[in-house]
Amino acid sequence: MNKESLTITDNRTGVAYEVPLFKGNIRARDLKQIRRDPEDFGVMSYDPAFLNTASCQSKVTFIDGDQGILRYRGYPIEQLAERCTFLEVAYLLIFGELPDSEQLREWVNAITHHTMIPEYTKKGLEGFRHDAHPMGMLISTVAALSTVYPEAKNVIDPEVRRLQIIRLIAKMPTLAAYAYRHSLGYPYIYPDNDLNYAENFLNMMWKMVEPKYVANPVLARALDILFILHADHEQNCSTNTMRCIGSAQTDPYLSVAGAASALSGPLHGRANEEVLHMLDEIGSKDRIPAFVKGVKEGHGKLMGFGHRVYKNYDPRARIIKWTAEKVFEVTGRNPKLDIALELERIALEDEYFIQRKLYPNVDFYSGIIYQAMGFKPEMFTVLFAIPRTAGWLAQWEEMIRDPEQKIARPRQVYVGNGVREVVQTREKVTR
Ligand code: CMC
Repeated sequence: MNKESLTITDNRTGVAYEVPLFKGNIRARDLKQIRRDPEDFGVMSYDPAFLNTASCQSKVTFIDGDQGILRYRGYPIEQLAERCTFLEVAYLLIFGELPDSEQLREWVNAITHHTMIPEYTKKGLEGFRHDAHPMGMLISTVAALSTVYPEAKNVIDPEVRRLQIIRLIAKMPTLAAYAYRHSLGYPYIYPDNDLNYAENFLNMMWKMVEPKYVANPVLARALDILFILHADHEQNCSTNTMRCIGSAQTDPYLSVAGAASALSGPLHGRANEEVLHMLDEIGSKDRIPAFVKGVKEGHGKLMGFGHRVYKNYDPRARIIKWTAEKVFEVTGRNPKLDIALELERIALEDEYFIQRKLYPNVDFYSGIIYQAMGFKPEMFTVLFAIPRTAGWLAQWEEMIRDPEQKIARPRQVYVGNGVREVVQTREKVTR
């Protein structure tokens, strides 16, 4: 008998099946051979919300949730945050290796020269209300790019894919900044090719009437580090959405729009915005115990806490705390930090959070830094979507190249009615 296998006995029939292990796991398809009788469909695995189901093999990102480890392509996140720029990391995620000098020059040059968005796409923003949420505007305009680049639908051509990857990474900051400027009624600022990725974004966000906007280098670097930390996180909700939509061979603009839509949920990428609202609601340190008591009694969640995979401190939250100190040296301390630190201290000593292994995640502190840098809470998820685009595209590229992948199509356990007849008891209403 193959030792790398499981023996499963069907107690209904007494038949034993040998199921091979694949890298320590079973393939759910191998369960199908287990049948009560020849007419039986066979056993499936039932796993709502994918609590224990791997949907792909991936070489992009490694997480050890118990140890609090995060690596992109094998490199620890701490080293990447300290030693690399976001564009180097984006290259690493997509191509698998850090670029050499020539590759980096070409890559940065390509991204820099694809930052413009067409004027008609820009004008499309005028159709949004002045108080439209920037995430809705970002999602809609990135989807609109699908109509600008119809060749993008040819997703099986690697060169076509490469060009769209460059365009998407280049244009997301422009779309994000334009969404923000629209909400203020300010004129849009065109990209500036003299600036690096983070500086260019800050320029498009904040430039007013000065001839040349100069970003504070500490803030630009802090933003670049935050981009690195948010760039990928293996098979989370939005990445799974990207892979799922992409598996239908949908073009990457529409797939990114779908992934960004998943990101905009409060349990996922919008948690950073919700943390700020929560800290506002708490208001002062003395009100924290009552707030925590309310959470434990089931009145809402402690936003920015808990994670499906991390059952330890989120390593990104540690780097963010360190980055916050650098930012506050420039901007002054955000008073919400004191409430957040006290909230973390109280939660980490509380039996409810200890038992459930609930620790601060990436969203707990990121909003406090963003706010100190001048961003409104509505922009926080947009700031998450910009770098995560690199991760979505790396996972999309990997999915398309994977010969095992097909259109994503889960099974279900049907629990509805059996067949029944329509009996006409109502009068017809036609309009
Ligand atoms: N506050 C209070 N209780 C919580 C929290 C929280 N933030 N998170 C989980 N719990 C409780 C939950 O009620 C459950 O308790 P019980 O066993 O008594 O029913 C237990 O902990 C397990 O939680 P779960 O909901 O089964 O865990 P999950 O893996 O399905 O959910 C999560 C993960 C991130 C959605 C959840 O922890 C959460 O809603 N956190 C707050 C929102 C948040 O910060 N999201 C950002 C996640 S990290 C970045 C990203 O993905 O964008």
